[in-house]
Formats: sequence, structure tokens, C-alpha cells
Amino acid sequence: MTTAIPPEDPRPEMLDGHLYDYPAYYDLVFGSDCAAELSFLEACFERFTDRVVSRVFEPACGTGRLLYRLARRGYSVSGNDLNPSAIEYCNARFQRAGLPPPAIVGDMADFRLKRKVDAAFNTINSFRHLDTEAAAGRHLCCVGDSLARGGIYLLGLHLTPTHGLRDMGETWTARRGHLGIVSDLQSLAIDLRRRVESFRMTFDIYTPTRHRRIAGIIKYRTYTLAQIRRLVASVPSLEWIESFDFSYDVSRPVVVDEQSEDVVLVLRKR
Ligand SMILES: C[S@@+](CC[C@H](N)C(=O)[O-])C[C@H]1O[C@@H](n2cnc3c(N)ncnc32)[C@H](O)[C@@H]1O
Repeated sequence: MTTAIPPEDPRPEMLDGHLYDYPAYYDLVFGSDCAAELSFLEACFERFTDRVVSRVFEPACGTGRLLYRLARRGYSVSGNDLNPSAIEYCNARFQRAGLPPPAIVGDMADFRLKRKVDAAFNTINSFRHLDTEAAAGRHLCCVGDSLARGGIYLLGLHLTPTHGLRDMGETWTARRGHLGIVSDLQSLAIDLRRRVESFRMTFDIYTPTRHRRIAGIIKYRTYTLAQIRRLVASVPSLEWIESFDFSYDVSRPVVVDEQSEDVVLVLRKR
């Protein structure tokens, strides 16, 4: 049974905290439709490394929406994230399914894995949370150190186009039973000199009797094509070998240019 989302209530009940502190809501919005991402990840595992991919790592794994589904497909998975609520949610889901908890609280710009992995991935802009060039560089070095030779890193982010229009926002809806969530992300301001783009993100949470809202500001570091190229080139252990967009179609690589926005870089460990 589904519940219709009522028209906009001008005074929803506001919930405290950040979106990432509500992993169950986050997971409903972003975990509802992972099929295209998962197929794409697996197709890249097949196509871009000679290794048989069995061990995978996700820096900034959040609720583990992708790790969980990969574990169910037989991969040995692990991840880290700065947010303890997301990690608790992630590990609890694995334990409920009789799987070992795969995730720890940790910084994606400062980690070391005990055993190297065949592949790593970081989709939907999490990388852009790293707010300095030094942190972004450290992140890529940590990933490079974590990959076995020939292993791959799939890095998804929005670039800032230097020609043409840029995307200003997106809205998604998701439902489970009587719960409906409308998630909205809108770019508020972009400072290309400081390289910060601020977004307002809201989750409107509807049940038959209540309308609640979580609202917050997300700040992402900006990358033009030249800036991401320079950053990747500064990490000798990784080589940028192919690019896609967020249509996640492995049969359609893209040429990244000054108008590109959503990109998935395929980086390979030398
Ligand atoms: C957009 S969510 C994506 C989560 C997950 N990768 C997914 O695809 O659903 C971004 C995540 O990055 C995490 N994060 C932000 N900065 C981080 C850092 N320095 N190290 C690890 N995680 C970080 C946040 O806590 C949040 O869970």
C-alpha cells in the first residue's frame, strides 16, 4: 500500500541534526534504486582490471547501501565513513543478515587497509566533501595504497563546467509503506575562487499524520576539468583510463570536456 504525498505543508515539524544523522531516511532515498549503479560497478570490475575482483572497498560508504548489495552477491566488502550513525546502521544491517560488520568510523583522507583490495568506488560526490586540495590528494594516495596492482577506483562526481549551463539541483522521491520522502538538493552559491559550492538539502518526510523536515547545508569542493586532471596527475600510483557519466552505461564511455558535469572516472593502480 502506498501513501500519497500531501501538498506542501508550510509548517513542517523540523528535525534537528544533519541529513547524514538519519541513516534510515538517507537509505530509503538513496538506497531504493541502486540497480544501475551495481550493474555498472560489476561491469567495470570485469572490463577495466585483469584481476578477478573479489575484495572491494568503499571510502565514505555511508549506510552501506552498495556494500550490502555487493556482499549479497558474494564480494568481500569493507568501508569507512566519518559518521558514526551511518556506520552503526550499515553494520547492523549486515549483522541482521548474518554477515560480518564491514565498516568502521574513519576518514577517507587518512586510512590504511590491512589487506589490499581489487577495486574501490566512491559514487555520488562524497569525494567532494574533502574541502582542501591536500585532503583530496591524500584521499587518492590512500586509495592508491589500498589497491592491489591493476586494481581500479571508480570515482563519481559532478564537475563545474567552464562552458555552458550548470545543473542547479535535483529532486528525488522514495516510498516504503506509509513512509514517503521527498529529497531536494539545490545549489545556493558557488565560489570558484575558494572552490566551494553550497547546496541546500532537505528531506521532507511524510507519514499519513505527520510532515517532518530535515534541512541542512552541504558544502562541496568544486572541480573543473583542468582541476580534476591536475589532481589525478599528482598521484603517481593512479592512472585515469576511462570516463563515464551518471547514466552508468558501461557500453558508452564519454569524452570529458569543459561542458561535462556528472562523471565517473575509472582510475587504475599502476
Ligand atoms: C552522499 S553520502 C554517500 C554515502 C555512500 N557513499 C552512498 O553512496 O550512499 C556522503 C558520505 O560521505 C561521508 N563523509 C564526508 N566526509 C568524509 C570523510 N572525510 N571521510 C569519510 N566519510 C566522509 C558522510 O558522512 C556521508 O556518509
